Parts: sequence; structure tokens; C-alpha cells
Amino acid sequence: MNSIINDLNILRKEKNAIILAHMYQRPEVHDVADFVGDSLGLSKKVVTTDAEIIVFCGVHFMAETAYILNPNKKVLIPDISAGCPMADMITVKELNDFKAKFKNPFVIAYINTSAEIKAQSDICCTSSNAVNIVKHVDSTNKDVDIIFIPDRNLGYYAQKMSGVKMNIWNGFCPTHNNFILPEYILKARKEHPTAEILVHPECRPEVIEAADYAMSTGNMCKHVKHNANKDFIIGTETGILYKLRKKNPNKNFYPITDLSVCPNMKKTTIEKIFDVLKNTKNLVTVSNDIREKAYLPILKMLNISH
Ligand code: 13P
Ligand code: SF4
Repeated sequence: MNSIINDLNILRKEKNAIILAHMYQRPEVHDVADFVGDSLGLSKKVVTTDAEIIVFCGVHFMAETAYILNPNKKVLIPDISAGCPMADMITVKELNDFKAKFKNPFVIAYINTSAEIKAQSDICCTSSNAVNIVKHVDSTNKDVDIIFIPDRNLGYYAQKMSGVKMNIWNGFCPTHNNFILPEYILKARKEHPTAEILVHPECRPEVIEAADYAMSTGNMCKHVKHNANKDFIIGTETGILYKLRKKNPNKNFYPITDLSVCPNMKKTTIEKIFDVLKNTKNLVTVSNDIREKAYLPILKMLNISH
């Protein structure tokens, strides 16, 4: 392993490449990445990098977003089959049919959507800014029918926290929705009674209700750092635990369940990162027409989320 990491370090310098990784990646991928972040943090990093090549260790819509923001750079994804089942839960036709049901539709698209879907949307959001984006849309647009796609759980959460009524699409993340269950929270509370329970807003409403806080992966990292509590129970994809433990060696982190693993996030390996960078392969691109349209809702989001 050490020799491939040495070779990768030489190669990334030679090629002026940056390696970005989402928190849900494998520990060894965290260790070689220049930056490990949540969806919003990664989008912001993409805008400011001087690198010519971005190796995006995440799933397809993330690499696509990096390309939309930076079409002059080469964006490579280590495993071209790493997709997001939630993003695939809405098609352009389904979105257009849904929009046609409303007089004045205004679409808020979670960043977990394809470029084609973003191109038909009005503004994007991530799990860290969803509540603020919903409030912003409501306060700056009169008489609109707000549509939230594709995650019903994040949609319900943002609706509840903002008090803004929305028309929510019925998609979900299998990793959060199917594997993080309310009974696990009760069990975890009994086992670690003094621990705070943090869950991702992609979890079911009953899970969010039973937890202490719902927040994005990036906000979980900030929250635990500035908190006097030593013990935390974490309800999201288990990849985040590596980062939490590495950055906070004096605190204890327990997963609500070991089952909440995203198989697509785990497709990235060091060997694949090396291979795509060496051979400049698995380039992620979007046609100009779609890119120009998909850029606007992402830009709108970035302009109002600091
Ligand atoms: P965040 O990185 O915004 O917390 O989102 C989690 C996620 O599921 C990305 O696919
Ligand atoms: Fe998609 Fe869920 Fe995996 Fe995130 S964790 S990439 S939402 S399937």
C-alpha cells in the first residue's frame, strides 16, 4: 500500500491534481485526500482550487457538480459506476409532469440530483443549507408552489424547521431511510445514556424525532468539536466515524448501527484513484446546453450560503 501511495503523491504533483473526498469514503481514501468534506464544502472547494485535475472520490452527481462549476478542468471519478440511488428516483419526465400540476412551480433540488434535473430546477440545496434555502425561497417569491425534490425525509425536515409548506417528492436514501431505525436510537440511548445523538436529515422523521439533533455531515464535525460532551451516537453513513475519531481523539463516537453503509461511496479505492489519474480516465462531463442551465441553480445556492 505504501508504494502505491508514494507513486500517487508523485503523480498528483506532476499532474497538478487535487483529490477531493466525501466523508463517506473509506478511511484510506480520507488519508490520501487533499480535502474531506460534505457536499457543500466540496462544492465550495471546487470553485477555489487552482488544480488542473480534480479526482472526485464520491458519487456521480458530485463529480458532475464539480464539472458544472469548473468546465475548464478535468474531473475524474475513480469508479464510473458509483451512483446515488436517491438521485435516480426522479426522471426529467416525472419532474415535468409534477411541475405541470401547479400554477406557479418553483423547484428546490437537493444537490443529490442529475445535471438534467438541476437544469429544470430553480435553486439547489444541500443538507447543510436546506432549511435556509427554503426560508429564502419563501421570503423572496410571492405565490409560488414550492416543489422539493427528490428526498422526502430532507423535505419533511426542512418543511418542519422552516414552517414553509412544500410539495415533496417521494424519494429517499436507502442507506439512511432503510437502515437507521427508531428502535436503534432507543437501544443506543440505553447503552450510552450521557451521549448526544446526532442524525442526518436524510433519516426518517421518526428517527429525527427520537434524536437530539439532525444535521449534515459537515455540521456534525463542527458540532462535536465545539461541544463539552465527550460521547456521541452518530446516525449517518458510517464513513464519517473515521474523520470524527481522527479529529477528536479524546471523544467517543458510536454508530447507531453498523448497517448504514453506502455501497456506492465504498466503490472508491486507492488503486482506482491511481489508475484514473495515471490514465486520465473516467472523465465526467455534461453537454454545454445542460451545463449552462444546471449551473444557475447551483450558483444561486452558493451565493446565499456562506
Ligand atoms: P452531506 O454531505 O451534505 O451531509 O450529504 C450526505 C449525503 O448523503 C451525500 O450523498
Ligand atoms: Fe446517495 Fe444515500 Fe449514498 Fe448519499 S448515502 S450517495 S444519498 S445513496
